[in-house]
Amino acid sequence: MSPDPLAGRRVLVGISGSIAAVKLPLLVSALVQRGASVRCVLTASAARLVSAEALACLSRQPCHLDADQWSPQAARPLHVELAEWAELVLLAPLSATSLGRWVHGLGDTLLASTLLACEAPMLAAAAMNTAMWSSPGVRANWQSLQGWQRVLPIGPSQGLLACDRLGDGRMAEPELLLLALESLALWGWRRDWQGLNLVVSAGPTREALDPARCLTNPSSGRMGVLLAQAARLRGARVELVHGPLQVPAAWLDGLICRAVTTAAELEQALVEAQPRADAIAMAAAVADHRRARPLQQKLSKQELAQELGRGWEPVPDILKGLVDRRPPDQVILGFAAHSGDVLTQALAKWGRKGCDLLFANPIDEPGAGFAAASNRGWLLGPSPGERHELESQSKLALAHRLLSALRQRIRPPADAPPCPPAPAPAPAAADP
Ligand code: CTP
Repeated sequence: MSPDPLAGRRVLVGISGSIAAVKLPLLVSALVQRGASVRCVLTASAARLVSAEALACLSRQPCHLDADQWSPQAARPLHVELAEWAELVLLAPLSATSLGRWVHGLGDTLLASTLLACEAPMLAAAAMNTAMWSSPGVRANWQSLQGWQRVLPIGPSQGLLACDRLGDGRMAEPELLLLALESLALWGWRRDWQGLNLVVSAGPTREALDPARCLTNPSSGRMGVLLAQAARLRGARVELVHGPLQVPAAWLDGLICRAVTTAAELEQALVEAQPRADAIAMAAAVADHRRARPLQQKLSKQELAQELGRGWEPVPDILKGLVDRRPPDQVILGFAAHSGDVLTQALAKWGRKGCDLLFANPIDEPGAGFAAASNRGWLLGPSPGERHELESQSKLALAHRLLSALRQRIRPPADAPPCPPAPAPAPAAADP
């Protein structure tokens, strides 16, 4: 298993004055537990909302305030030192004022001047009152940030705000910010899927045995959801059709979600979504059989034993149907989970299914397959016999690899921004 992409990375956390700042101490703690080296900078408003002492304890490093910026003891200005130290920057929450300072090139606080001096990739998570968020000045500032190199902006979500308003303005949940930061460490800020539509299926389907029991499988939906979220962070419009998931709800942020239960519902949702898709990733683990006629009454234990062997029909092959109906230029990625000789079975399955690419992974070894945090396997296609072994890595890293393989097969969108090279990870350096 490869190391956590955040382990050993130097992460600068910039916290500005929005009540969402109270969520940051636990986020900082989670980063430290994942092996990141974390330093925090608080604006004056943030320091009224969250304790610098708590952040210093949790990050195991001094927490920096405006008053620390200039000191006769410091050989280098603190904002320059912090800016050069950071490999990744997390701006959370990013308030209207800090956003405005940054976009307009003002450096009148420690955080503002650090941002101007910093060349590391940055994740910016805005949070503020709904009316502030929709005010013309903030809209314009946020809009200009969208085109900036090195910046991955994550807009606020809807919810109940501390001002008792219901609307846009809630900072993206910490679980999503950790995922987005991991994505920034792995892939950077490039939006090579901008202007493209991806449809992803994820999770298990469930077929009723009777009104009280079902046939399903252990899929958590993790691989498909990570693929969807990674594509969203790379700029795609993503529709996710999913069975019952076992992933943090925050990972669904920014995706157009449609929840289904049975294979028939999954098939219907995918057939509806297919015409909009530039690419489809079929990561759902479809239950293979269903009852030909649903039972209305619950079976007793004895009746169940008798019924199990009869009255079942195979579920149609949804992936094969999507392949048969696809419009020109649509690219389709299938998945295959196998025990035993994965490669031989997967090569035969790639031929049967007819999809462009097929990712096959083992389900009978630790650290791969259902619900694991990591995975390994083979990517087959697009030409017959073509295969690439993908070594064990986090499912998010794997999601980025699969997205890059898919992206290569899609025509370039007419208005695609030029795709700059990936940022090279900075060599690890000792903390001061
Ligand atoms: N799949 C599908 N419809 C089905 C079964 C599977 O669309 N009824 C898709 C899965 O989403 C996956 C690929 O086909 O992308 C392979 O799924 P898998 O379960 O490995 O293969 P099966 O076709 O079910 O064949 P078997 O279980 O016999 O290996």
